Amino acid sequence: MPKRAHLVAGILAPLCIATFFLSTVLVELFGSHDAVARLKSLIVAPGLWILIPAIAAAGGSGMLLSRSRKGRLVESKKKRMPFIAANGLLVLVPCAIVLNRWASAGSFDAAFYAVQAIELAAGAVNLTLMGLNVRDGLRMSGRLRHSPPSVTKTH
Ligand code: HEM
Repeated sequence: MPKRAHLVAGILAPLCIATFFLSTVLVELFGSHDAVARLKSLIVAPGLWILIPAIAAAGGSGMLLSRSRKGRLVESKKKRMPFIAANGLLVLVPCAIVLNRWASAGSFDAAFYAVQAIELAAGAVNLTLMGLNVRDGLRMSGRLRHSPPSVTKTH
């Protein structure tokens, strides 16, 4: 059961961050202020209500799974988790809430874009850390090979 939960949460969490990141970049580049405000609101609800439980579930179920595991991969995953959680709760959540408030008030000033830049940077960091946890997780579960398959040469 924790294995299935971990797989689902472990895919959902990075997928959320990737979706928020990509939609933010696209709407900032091509969308109106109205569209930006609508996206900011969607990122807070339902977005954060999906992302935060997914991160918590991935961390919690991962810790359960790791009780019967030893080795470099599991240790690396364990070390990344506090950064993923802190980055999510202390940077991404406050940024999303503040940006939603400012966008709904039509306040697209320098402060808005500064916080937006911080949010994107924190999102990129979390996406990288989660991506590494997915890679190491898939290696541990045997779904991903440790090294690329060797090329068989015929001459
Ligand atoms: C947001 C953070 C995390 C993500 C995105 C993530 C992602 C994944 C994914 C996608 C798998 C493959 C599951 C499968 O193929 O069935 C996996 C496996 C695994 N993860 Fe995580 N993980 C995270 C955090 C953790 C943490 C904190 C630990 C604890 C050290 C952990 C321990 C494990 C273990 C032991 C497995 C292998 C399960 C098995 O097949 O026995 N994960 N993880």
